[in-house]
Amino acid sequence: MTPRDDLDEARALWDTEAATFDEAPDHGLRDDRVREAWRTLLIGVLPPAPARIADLGCGTGTLSLLLADAGFTVDGVDLSPEMVRRAEAKAAGRAGARFVEADASAPPLAPASYDVVVCRHVLWAMPDPAATLQRWIDLLVPDGRLVLVEGRGFNGAGLSAAETVALVEGAGRTARLTRLPEAAYWGREIDDERYLVLG
Ligand SMILES: C[S@@+](CC[C@H](N)C(=O)[O-])C[C@H]1O[C@@H](n2cnc3c(N)ncnc32)[C@H](O)[C@@H]1O
Repeated sequence: MTPRDDLDEARALWDTEAATFDEAPDHGLRDDRVREAWRTLLIGVLPPAPARIADLGCGTGTLSLLLADAGFTVDGVDLSPEMVRRAEAKAAGRAGARFVEADASAPPLAPASYDVVVCRHVLWAMPDPAATLQRWIDLLVPDGRLVLVEGRGFNGAGLSAAETVALVEGAGRTARLTRLPEAAYWGREIDDERYLVLG
């Protein structure tokens, strides 16, 4: 498999997932309590609006639009045309968010121009997370922030909190870990590892 084959495979997989993606409570944020939990969590780690945010691997744009509705200017990037199509449909008539179909491991965004890079459940899938993280940091203005939401299931897929903290610290940044075990974020009880790292 070449890296190009890997990208094609990921694109096809996520295109298939797109139609039902928002049915998960934490994806679609259709339940007001789940939506409010994410809004409060993210606003609590962001600079005041307005600020410029890159949402990398944005899926159907739910978090991008949550943040745009809170007054931020958000550029969402996703590999999957179907995800981007759904994000653009949700954004119609709303201000503050635009979406780009591209590989988030090397986002086609202007360097040193974002106050925040947000990424939920995508860093773990990057072929070289350390190199990817460095490219994401390059997007940030000097006092910009990384907001990474990741996790690891019992099948071993994903990144542990220790791994993500090590990646962020290895990139020369201070990492602040917040664990997210509360059902409020997921719409159900969970017993695997889920967390946010602010870098
Ligand atoms: C688990 S979903 C998370 C979506 C969104 N961040 C959220 O939390 O709702 C993973 C997303 O990453 C996207 N993705 C996977 N690999 C990617 C890559 N190399 N570049 C851009 N997006 C990618 C998929 O298309 C999918 O939309």
